[in-house]
Amino acid sequence: MTIQFSDNATTDRLRGEIAEVLTRARARTLALTDCLDDAELAAQHSRLMSPLVWDLAHIGNQEELWLVRDVGGRAAVRGDIDELYDAFKHARADRPELPLLDPAQARGYVGSVREEVLDVLSGAPLHGNPLVQGGFAFGMVAQHEQQHDETMLATHQLRTGPAVLTAPPPPAARVPVRGEVIVPAGEFTMGTSTDPWALDNERPAHPVHVPGFAIGAAPVTNWEYLAFLADGGYERPELWSERGWRHRVEAGLVAPQFWERDGSGTWWRRAFGALTPLRPHQPVVHVCWYEAEAYANWAGRRLPTEAEWEKAARFDPATGVTRRYPWGDADPGVAQANLGQRHLEPADVGAYPAGASPAGVHQLIGDVWEWTSSGFEPYPGFRAFPYAEYSDVFFGGDYRMLRGGSFGTDPVACRGTFRNWDHPIRRQIFSGFRLARDLRAGEGR
Ligand code: AVJ
Ligand code: FE
Repeated sequence: MTIQFSDNATTDRLRGEIAEVLTRARARTLALTDCLDDAELAAQHSRLMSPLVWDLAHIGNQEELWLVRDVGGRAAVRGDIDELYDAFKHARADRPELPLLDPAQARGYVGSVREEVLDVLSGAPLHGNPLVQGGFAFGMVAQHEQQHDETMLATHQLRTGPAVLTAPPPPAARVPVRGEVIVPAGEFTMGTSTDPWALDNERPAHPVHVPGFAIGAAPVTNWEYLAFLADGGYERPELWSERGWRHRVEAGLVAPQFWERDGSGTWWRRAFGALTPLRPHQPVVHVCWYEAEAYANWAGRRLPTEAEWEKAARFDPATGVTRRYPWGDADPGVAQANLGQRHLEPADVGAYPAGASPAGVHQLIGDVWEWTSSGFEPYPGFRAFPYAEYSDVFFGGDYRMLRGGSFGTDPVACRGTFRNWDHPIRRQIFSGFRLARDLRAGEGR
């Protein structure tokens, strides 16, 4: 009896948590779309991005496919639009020409799907089969909506015109953070087999021996990046890889995206429709992988591998235990990390001492996605679940891994194991980086 009762209480608590995460995602989706008129929602703000009205209905369509039809076993809400909102059927650049639902129809559609889903949730078993175990499918759908919300935020950043989004500034620096932290050689557990909402590419947990390395205590800042610019970083092919230099020339890169220099030589940064002086101690954002690589060469450093990044973020040298976040297993709060679009920019280095790792590596989670040197490969023992189009079809492609989430990433879609990827030329995402290096003889013992 007691066990039965506690099982039900656990399931009810999980149902409540799921409803809360879904509701938080939807509030954000609507905030990102309600602030623009129909013409702006249907417009193509960049060929790299979908019209916002496509993202909106695509969010509802994925939710319908997984939760209404698959988990719920119910009839389609709209059986006629799956093809339109299948990301593999139409390239982003072609989506404005499709006969899409208009904004009012799209809002009505996502609302109807959500009503059904909350009804499915009230009765669905949350264990028994892997798709619903621990609420997985619901967690996956909430993460999917939040990932598209971050993509929509990037579309907002590309859009021209007066500002429509506002948020309070991020917290100021509280502690000085400088230099690098040494992580001695040794094994740690990479990935996870136990986090209930971890996606397929984060699984399974497996031991990785990582040679000793040093890693930046903070991401590279605008101030540091300016020194690279001033030293002719964008004019010196020897600092760039061959592919990187070719891209630098063809794309005409001269500074991070959204930087502007005025007549007096002062740098400004345009963000979400507002032009502000460059904040020197803020992590640099909107750089592509090739820019990060060239900066690292200039600095006599390199980018961390994915395994190094994850070890720095999760491994506690005092206990030898691999944890969920740099600060432990607790979910991120406002003191730990700049996540969830609470602010519309990265926070200055030193703003989140409570989010640092035991060894003193700061701001691994939140602020900016961090480029690593690694490509996208499956972990040993990987199984595509529940669909190959999330990860499997991208393995081995022309991608570099990004870790840690940005100010625009919701906590539900961010953990020490979370893996993101993009092409090395992309910089419309909220991407920055930190440096690493091999140890010298005698270091790290
Ligand atoms: C993991 C961020 C690369 O946005 O392309 C959204 C996430 N997958 N819908 C992307 C995703 C399917 C994906 N990234
Ligand atoms: Fe999607």
